[in-house]
Amino acid sequence: MITAGVDVGALSTEVVIMGDGGRLLASSILPTGANSERAAERAMREALTQAGLRLENLDRIVATGYGRVRVPFAHQQVTEITCHARGAVYFFPRTRTVIDVGGQDSKVIRVSPRGKPVDFAMNDKCAAGTGRFLEVMARALEVDLESLGELSAQSRNEITISSMCTVFAESEVVSLIAQGTPKEDIIRGLHNSIADRILTLAHRVGVEREVSMSGGVAKNRGVVRAISEKLGLPLNVPREPQIVGALGAALLALEAED
Ligand SMILES: Nc1ncnc2c1ncn2[C@@H]1O[C@H](COP(=O)(O)OP(=O)(O)OP(=O)(O)O)[C@@H](O)[C@H]1O
Ligand SMILES: [Mg+2]
Repeated sequence: MITAGVDVGALSTEVVIMGDGGRLLASSILPTGANSERAAERAMREALTQAGLRLENLDRIVATGYGRVRVPFAHQQVTEITCHARGAVYFFPRTRTVIDVGGQDSKVIRVSPRGKPVDFAMNDKCAAGTGRFLEVMARALEVDLESLGELSAQSRNEITISSMCTVFAESEVVSLIAQGTPKEDIIRGLHNSIADRILTLAHRVGVEREVSMSGGVAKNRGVVRAISEKLGLPLNVPREPQIVGALGAALLALEAED
């Protein structure tokens, strides 16, 4: 049996193709852009080419993510909560808590030993505490999103970003730059601010070890470090954290019974 998971997120779209026994055959990551349907089709085409397969070879396709209803070739839609939980347990079987920080929302999910969600808390009404927040700040600081983690590791001073709102925090960052505050310290402060948001969600659901992180923001080592320090626990991060949702969807397709 060959299955696929398609995760159409607010910012990025991923496809994972999986073979018998949960063998990962191919994966793709593309920006979602303005047309979710087209993004899903392009990401699927890229993954199929990688795997040397055609759409007809796929036995079952599960779609997830905020644009999951706009995937014309999907047989089933499953929520991101369920898919991230299942995907994280695939990479790290002892996972009991999943922290997913994507472009537009962040979630903390408590999972059963078999990877079923037991409880979750979510922030989806506000950019603070998400990847979008970091994108806005990287632009204000004139640094690449990809270098935030490395820069924050060079920080020598801990500063606090006091604004809770992305728009106000951006003004705060602009005035910190004007005052000559080192960018490294500002970035560390921003990572701590995201971590505080995540900790609030985490305390709402209760944290159990092991804790694994998914979503694009898990590629930022500075955010991972800040969350881990505040939790007082290490975080598992898969090599490609952005595909966890799509991978969970492909696994659920493999396990589907009808
Ligand atoms: N190489 C990278 N380094 C640092 N951060 C990154 C990198 N790649 C992506 N990101 C972050 O990941 C975010 C996107 O994450 P992801 O792809 O999981 O979001 P999404 O699934 O589209 O959104 P959502 O789950 O909210 O619908 C970006 O906003 C950015 O902050
Ligand atoms: Mg997502």
